[in-house]
Amino acid sequence: MKSEDRVTMQQIAQAADVSLGTVSHVINDTATVREPLRQRVLKAVKDLGYEPNELSRGLRLNRTNILGMIIPDITNPFFPGVVRGAEDVAYKDSYQLVLCNSDNDPHKEAVYLSQLKSFLPAGILLIPASDSTISSNLSGPPVVCVDRRPEGWKGDFVTVANRDGAGKAARHLIAMGHRRIGVISGPSRLANSLERLHGFCQAMDDAGVPIAPEYIQEALFDRASGYTSAMRLLHMLPRPTAIFATNDLMAMGVLLAIRDSKLVCPNDVSVISFDGLDVTELTDPALTTVYQPGYQLGYAAARLLRERIEGCNDPAREIELDTELRIRHSVARINPA
Ligand code: RIB
Repeated sequence: MKSEDRVTMQQIAQAADVSLGTVSHVINDTATVREPLRQRVLKAVKDLGYEPNELSRGLRLNRTNILGMIIPDITNPFFPGVVRGAEDVAYKDSYQLVLCNSDNDPHKEAVYLSQLKSFLPAGILLIPASDSTISSNLSGPPVVCVDRRPEGWKGDFVTVANRDGAGKAARHLIAMGHRRIGVISGPSRLANSLERLHGFCQAMDDAGVPIAPEYIQEALFDRASGYTSAMRLLHMLPRPTAIFATNDLMAMGVLLAIRDSKLVCPNDVSVISFDGLDVTELTDPALTTVYQPGYQLGYAAARLLRERIEGCNDPAREIELDTELRIRHSVARINPA
């Protein structure tokens, strides 16, 4: 549609017999307008087929209705649930969510942050990459970090109880008789990965169960590195009787490594993981896992961001959601001796 064909706000004002400012307040919801005037404007908008031009509106208000969201790995099935929770809030409040994938690369994350800001977004949700360079002293739109706390971050943050969740995994394995337990941890440069490792080790220490240093393997939160780490653990003597993988994708690699080693889960090696993706119900055996509420993470983060957009100046908030141990069939009870 050429600009001269586009219905203008001036035409709306004339048709509704109100001022241009009244039309702007009704269309941009920037002030309360008496109901009879508001109805006249809405009728004129409908009759003339007015379509707001978001770009010109953004330039006028120095802000659009865009919510930027940056996630670290669009191929990891954990993150779509988080995005969906955020998108449900965005859509309900007439924001448009623009999704970017940083590939867990802090440079790519920084590029996207800069590009998103050039679109004058109302706010930004960030699940940080490893070694994220985002600063709390941000000018521009409000930012809420989710799931992983960047180093030095002092702004709004929404996460789960990683330490407590990993402790639940440890206590379950111990209750099932396991004493030789291997851990496959995510990248040590990610705060939530370290929190799970520390939570697991603390629970083991509290129970007086030592962990052999070689039983702690660092991987990359993906299936291939989970497989490689598991193969190392399975060929150690004595072999661990159980393995805790601090996310489900690595646990998939562990199950494959057990199979390729001609072993059986849980009879030879038990497995427990963290995330609680739907796929963990479909593995053979179905995985015992610590469920973290991805959808609620995104939903809570978007609600917090909306409060900031609406002008809330309270001190930075941290929201921590609980986890849930979902016991299925991948952990066998053994005789501790
Ligand atoms: O599976 C991906 C992992 O990275 C999840 O545990 C989630 O917490 C994210 O940080």
